[in-house]
Amino acid sequence: MKWEYNSKYPAIDDLRSKAKRKIPRFAFEYLDGGCNEDVNLYKNTTELREVELAPYYLNNYSGADLKTELFGHVYDAPFGVAPVGLQGLIWPNSPEILAKAAVTHNIPFVLSTVTTASIERISEITEGKAWYQLYHPADSSLRDDILKRLEAAKYPVLVLLSDVPSFGYRPRDIRNGLAMPPRMTLQNILQIMARPEWAIKTLIHGTPNFATLKPYMEKGLSMKQLGLFMNKTFSGRLNEERIKPIRDKWKGKIVLKGVATEADTELAIKLGLDGIIVSNHGGRQLDAGQSAIKSLEPIVKNYKGKIKIMMDSGIRTGPDIARTLASGAEFAFLGRSFMYSVAALGNEGGNHIISSLKTQLKQVMEQVCCANTAELEKHLIR
Ligand SMILES: Cc1cc2nc3c(=O)[nH]c(=O)nc-3n(C[C@H](O)[C@H](O)[C@H](O)COP(=O)(O)O)c2cc1C
Repeated sequence: MKWEYNSKYPAIDDLRSKAKRKIPRFAFEYLDGGCNEDVNLYKNTTELREVELAPYYLNNYSGADLKTELFGHVYDAPFGVAPVGLQGLIWPNSPEILAKAAVTHNIPFVLSTVTTASIERISEITEGKAWYQLYHPADSSLRDDILKRLEAAKYPVLVLLSDVPSFGYRPRDIRNGLAMPPRMTLQNILQIMARPEWAIKTLIHGTPNFATLKPYMEKGLSMKQLGLFMNKTFSGRLNEERIKPIRDKWKGKIVLKGVATEADTELAIKLGLDGIIVSNHGGRQLDAGQSAIKSLEPIVKNYKGKIKIMMDSGIRTGPDIARTLASGAEFAFLGRSFMYSVAALGNEGGNHIISSLKTQLKQVMEQVCCANTAELEKHLIR
């Protein structure tokens, strides 16, 4: 796979600015924002960027290998596409575009329960290589039905989300009356009319819907009914009793996402889970929480080797991925960066961002004289 990126958009800020110009304001603000006053959203990236690497210029060196083994699969790079809900609202077809780019580049794509492409469609695109992120269903028969569909579609990894016990307080979304499909208020209609390419593509592609959940929903639900359906269907809060039966039933790997403490890491190990993603949902849930990189440090110190440790939240660039791995994470995930790229560049966006991130990470590794991703830890300046 060639790493080809569009030289007009080499920086993540180029993509973010272009995305802002191309999609309606309610969609951009849903993607871009954090919760409350965005304190943790900001800290995630600024505190990650305090991590510094040492370059060893005079060592012998034969090149950088980005390949990284995870759960028995050798990926071409140590990063993947984090689950994002309502993707089709941000850009039509975006989960399909990203899943295709991810499988072509041999990196993992994680499908959200509440996005706009179905379990089966994404499995087809990724040839059974995508991971699935589960919002915990309140009803065990619904949970079992989803698990059965995942098994039939050959998903190797199930990601259980722990950090949405209650829905984040997001001022922009509240102000915009965010809903799916978008509510046709005068304000939203004006925002859509100002973005004709988004409007036409959305019209052609069809109104976005919760594709995976369709079989469980009555047809033609109003937004209010849809909200009631979601509240009734999912019990966001996870605990030991809810995780245990999933561990017993699911034969593949299980990853707990949204871990911020040693206590939750310890429980994940006790319950026989295979990995954790240290994450604060990209600063969208707990504004008074720690940045992900700060949460990572004691977890790596005390639990590395006992469970696979991954991280997301605040990672935007190749140097950011290098900082995350140097700090002891074994794999990185990014949410917004991928979506900025697809919103900015459409079909081309998936390949563009993955190629650019690979190129940037390789350059960092060559610069510091690091042979493979596991060795980045040796370059951490403590
Ligand atoms: C618009 C948006 C929607 C998201 N939806 C989900 C979701 O449905 N499920 C989930 O597990 N995480 C969701 N996340 C969190 C991401 O998986 C990931 O943790 C986060 O984006 C990482 O931070 P970053 O955006 O700074 O890279 C969402 C994030 C964003 C930005």
